[in-house]
Amino acid sequence: MSTQFHLVTGAAGFIGSHLVDRLLAQGHRVLGIDNMVRGVRRNVETALRHPGFTFIEARVDDAAAFIGLISDATGRLGPINMVWHMAANSDIAAGTDDANIDLRDTFLTSFAVLQAMRAASIPRIAFASSSAIYGDHGLRAIAEDDGPLLPISNYGAMKLASEAAISAAAESYLERAWIFRFPNVVGGRGTHGVIYDFLNKLEITPDRLEVLGNGLQRKPYLHVADLIDAMTFIVANGNAKVNYVNIGPEDQGVEVRFIAETVVAEAAPAATIQYGEGSRGWVGDVPRFYYSTEKLRRMGWRPSQDSAVAVTRAVGELFVERRQPAR
Ligand SMILES: NC(=O)c1ccc[n+]([C@@H]2O[C@H](COP(=O)([O-])OP(=O)(O)OC[C@H]3O[C@@H](n4cnc5c(N)ncnc54)[C@H](O)[C@@H]3O)[C@@H](O)[C@H]2O)c1
Repeated sequence: MSTQFHLVTGAAGFIGSHLVDRLLAQGHRVLGIDNMVRGVRRNVETALRHPGFTFIEARVDDAAAFIGLISDATGRLGPINMVWHMAANSDIAAGTDDANIDLRDTFLTSFAVLQAMRAASIPRIAFASSSAIYGDHGLRAIAEDDGPLLPISNYGAMKLASEAAISAAAESYLERAWIFRFPNVVGGRGTHGVIYDFLNKLEITPDRLEVLGNGLQRKPYLHVADLIDAMTFIVANGNAKVNYVNIGPEDQGVEVRFIAETVVAEAAPAATIQYGEGSRGWVGDVPRFYYSTEKLRRMGWRPSQDSAVAVTRAVGELFVERRQPAR
């Protein structure tokens, strides 16, 4: 791929910051935008030293303001070839308590990005969607064209609405779109999620770990390094007008119990683990989830690690990170 200019929204977040590093390493120029609500400066510290990286702290959810911001940025920095839209609310439970959060951060960011792409003639978008668009299908290995698509969280609903808006934009003005349906992603720089929550809890009560639900929830986990590989692979190889692909490991995932035991072994070996009741960790949680990654395999991509290895590696990375002094 020749050198291009990429816009990454959510650039200081967990996945966005790893993506920025990868794009810079591939020789591209990158404009990163994040409102820093969940983004962390440390995540983009290395990128900020790179001459090809520009960072703007700004919100993405206000379409008029975002169109102005992109017009100004392209005037100064040159035309943008592609957007990687990673900004969203990543606290699913918060979005269940207050639907405005997912309306603003998960849908209106997508809407504003599309409006700005039209105004600035940016032809291509890659979008971080989620397995949450499918809803609860038990252990049925749901594939991309299966349905019904009945999300059980506002987060999933607003991701599905974003996919719909991208599809409509592709019909009228986008050249190409890639929609990634992510599993649970783990790894260093994580800003949320089960490992992050368990480590937080153990910092407060080092003698015990309270787990929401009975610990039997089972989900697939992918390490962020594999995720970024898959995303760049799909963009390089997905030649449909709108490409929509499940990304995930090939195994059936691991149970929350495994994650709790791995975190305790790493961070507080003397702690006892206390499980709650019920199969859901919280309202909107899908207790057992498995989806088909056959389409991605047929395209020619395979993960380097299974869920258990990804979780174990991520626990180590997040634990080490916490011990580093804040800069
Ligand atoms: N991590 C996962 O397991 C997972 C799973 C499925 C989908 N995703 C999706 O992948 C993307 C990246 O997720 P992540 O795990 O890196 O989460 P994250 O919270 O670390 O990153 C999202 C970033 O977006 C920023 N942001 C949120 N609202 C914004 C707004 N209105 N304006 C500007 N910036 C805003 C946040 O500050 C944050 O830095 C998200 O779209 C998320 O929904 C993640």
